[in-house]
Amino acid sequence: MNFQAKAVDLSQVKADCIVLGVSEAKQQSAAFNQIDQQLEGLLSQLSSAGDLKTGLGQTVLLPTPSISGKRILVVGLGKANELTRDQFQKLSTAVAGKLYHKNIKTAAFALGDVTVTGADSAWQASLVARAVVLADYQYDATLSTKKPAHNLRSVIYVTDDKAALPAIKKGLAQGQAVGNGMNFTRQLGNLPANICTPSYLSGQARTLARGQTKLSVKILKEKDMRELGMGSLLSVSAGSVEEANLIVMEYKGAAKSTKPHVIVGKGITFDTGGISLKPGANMDEMKFDMCGAASVFGTVKTLLELQPKINVVAIVAASENMPNGNATKPGDVVTSMSGQTIEILNTDAEGRLVLCDALTYAERYKPQSVIDIATLTGACIVALGKVRCGLFSNDDAMAAELENLSQEVCDKAWHLPMDDEYQKLLDSNFADIANIGGPGGGSITAACFLSRFTKKFTWAHLDIAGVSHHSGGTAKGATGRPVPLLTEYLLSKV
Ligand code: BES
Ligand code: MN
Ligand code: ZN
Repeated sequence: MNFQAKAVDLSQVKADCIVLGVSEAKQQSAAFNQIDQQLEGLLSQLSSAGDLKTGLGQTVLLPTPSISGKRILVVGLGKANELTRDQFQKLSTAVAGKLYHKNIKTAAFALGDVTVTGADSAWQASLVARAVVLADYQYDATLSTKKPAHNLRSVIYVTDDKAALPAIKKGLAQGQAVGNGMNFTRQLGNLPANICTPSYLSGQARTLARGQTKLSVKILKEKDMRELGMGSLLSVSAGSVEEANLIVMEYKGAAKSTKPHVIVGKGITFDTGGISLKPGANMDEMKFDMCGAASVFGTVKTLLELQPKINVVAIVAASENMPNGNATKPGDVVTSMSGQTIEILNTDAEGRLVLCDALTYAERYKPQSVIDIATLTGACIVALGKVRCGLFSNDDAMAAELENLSQEVCDKAWHLPMDDEYQKLLDSNFADIANIGGPGGGSITAACFLSRFTKKFTWAHLDIAGVSHHSGGTAKGATGRPVPLLTEYLLSKV
């Protein structure tokens, strides 16, 4: 996709489709009025007849053979003349979904009059570009008939503010890079677990690094992990024929002496629950249990596109969780790389078992900050549904920073507590710590478990069990979250 920003009169723009907003207010935008005039009042006639939908994100595609664009996509702005960020995202997503039409190769956005509370035009441009790239994604990797490629090739972002052009261009590039990263995340998430194995993910890391001067990749195999004492991570892969892989990608955009930010992804390529076997219904969706890892891959892809001057270490703990004869049994005690022993009371609480060793591994980088991303608990879906991910941190400033950024980029997180009282629930008679807590507060006790392994750095944990994928039905599939949040956080560290 080719994105351009232009400060020209709308009549100069050559596109197969022009996107205009229509609001419930009497006064429409300058762009709307200009096109209306060109069309001899057609838009205002349709509007007064009630044939232009004004509800937020509702669209009407009009054939308008008399003007150069030949088509106009009118999108409802609702009644407010100022939108919230979330409303603008809804609008961009609705528009983008309609542009993939066989006769539209070039689309021009003339939404310049739309204002978003607290956001500038660069932000708007980035959300538009992200939405267009996301709508371009279609999964067909495992279909025998491939889906035809989309026709949309280029998007022109029209503005009347010449001074804003450089910022808008930057916004478009950033939105495009985030969209591409999210689509990569979606693809890895959607691939079935018989293809997307730990070694497949390692291959993806090597492919990402090919020809890249700023990215290096190191893969730790089970033998390497055994030497490091990663008994917790290895207890998860014990019951699987597939070997676990610890994938380390180092992005070096800044001076060697600059300490990195580390992101760590849970990469359970399939979670059966192990010996604590899950019930059968919807178990297929446990192929999405590597979406944290996939978001780490997506973020690395975005960084490679944007080339920011920071150092980032991206770690993926990849394993299956399977119940064969070598599998870990409830009650087994293992020793983590940190030296702490863990009583595994439930083999289905495996995410924290792979993450704790990956987090201890992160210590060697003396990181400025560490964020882990994991489809960690069903309890997080109970608490927050599929709108916000759970956010935990050992540093309130970091939690506030992430929560604010999440709101800004429409990739929302909610700060949940980790009071000391919850830590007690992890007490074990037979080890330093148990891998599950009591029946309540499951996301919190999971975060508390991780906090035992993150004492040496500033750390946040994102529980994305609810937001990483759509469940069931026709929308089933990975979302690409939280690549926007991770990217925004890392770019803020340049
Ligand atoms: N991968 C699951 C969590 C999950 C559930 C993600 C549903 C996405 C959708 C995780 O490994 C798990 O099984 N967690 C258990 C923890 C429990 C045994 C303490 C859970 O949430 O039930
Ligand atoms: Mn599990
Ligand atoms: Zn899991």
